[in-house]
Amino acid sequence: MGHGGDVIHELTTDHREVEDMFAQIEALPSGDSRRKELADKVTIELVRHSVAEEMYLYPTVREHLPNGDSIADKELEDHAKAERTMKDLERCQADDPQFDRLMTELMSEIRDHVADEEGNLFPMMRQTCSAEDLQRLGDKVRTAKKMAPTRPHPSAPDTPPGNKLLGPGAGMVDRLRDALTGRGKSD
Ligand SMILES: [Fe+2]
Repeated sequence: MGHGGDVIHELTTDHREVEDMFAQIEALPSGDSRRKELADKVTIELVRHSVAEEMYLYPTVREHLPNGDSIADKELEDHAKAERTMKDLERCQADDPQFDRLMTELMSEIRDHVADEEGNLFPMMRQTCSAEDLQRLGDKVRTAKKMAPTRPHPSAPDTPPGNKLLGPGAGMVDRLRDALTGRGKSD
């Protein structure tokens, strides 16, 4: 399943990609530095996905679904929790004693999110929203995700401007979120 199609198709494709990265992480031995590289990559994808959902999916949920407000509030709460885990993880190298615990926590939080959206939210949206609305949202979500910078390869630290935003140092999650939402544009 590739990217494209309506918002449900697009976000489900993201979910599969994230699950694939989790499987790659799980297949590597504890302490392997590639686990950290994959953790950074999955963090970028997850922040991109979360911001797109927050900007376009949840407002629609609030508007169209019965109990939409409480569903959207719960999703935002879950995003905030996963983001705290990602911020903690961002500070750990693969051989940090906390790395495996945080990675396990993040995978569990995200797998719950995926099961919840695909099992409950997306089927409800299929029933309540028109095909045109879902398609239009898919386009918006794709545009929003494209605003996210990607992390430069560690061997190419001087390639502007992405490295300025997401280079080594604290705050990758926050800077990524700022870049996506348009906050901190003066950078
Ligand atoms: Fe999602």
